[in-house]
Amino acid sequence: MYTENPIPETGKKLSRRNFFKLLSGVFAGFIVVTLGIPMFESIVGTIKKKKQRIFSKLTSVSSIPNDQPVNLPFVMTEEDAFIKNIQPENVWAIKNPEGEATVFSPICTHLGCRYQWREDQKLFVCPCHHSVFDKNGNVISGPAPRPLDTLPTKTKNNYLYVLWERFKPGISNKEII
Ligand code: FES
Repeated sequence: MYTENPIPETGKKLSRRNFFKLLSGVFAGFIVVTLGIPMFESIVGTIKKKKQRIFSKLTSVSSIPNDQPVNLPFVMTEEDAFIKNIQPENVWAIKNPEGEATVFSPICTHLGCRYQWREDQKLFVCPCHHSVFDKNGNVISGPAPRPLDTLPTKTKNNYLYVLWERFKPGISNKEII
């Protein structure tokens, strides 16, 4: 007697249901690629923009006296993603006999107070916990864990520019916030 022996499905045949599943998978993949890549680029672009570094004009290099710290006020411009932040700031600058300027952040490396130059002592002194630094930024005494933070500079047409940055206070190494 003849009995029908059904042939088991090998999976090679694509049923209508599986075909639509596959089609919707391909479609979803297409959407992810076409929308996902521009979105990813937009996010990366925003992050890149956030890291945009803007140098601010300080003063002419020739106006900084040799071996004597001067406080230089300036207008700091910062671009944080889509927000432009403009605010008054200041830095300390000193020029060596070779005419090279060093610019210090005005923020104490201990806990972030603003220190001052004491002309009578020829030292930078922080009023908060009495950290003392020499004119080159080295720690003389007090709890400051590292020398004064130098800021990146550039010179163009005899003008000194500074890149405003903030660093983590209270630690021995210089780390940008
Ligand atoms: S913040 Fe300057 S010594 Fe503490």
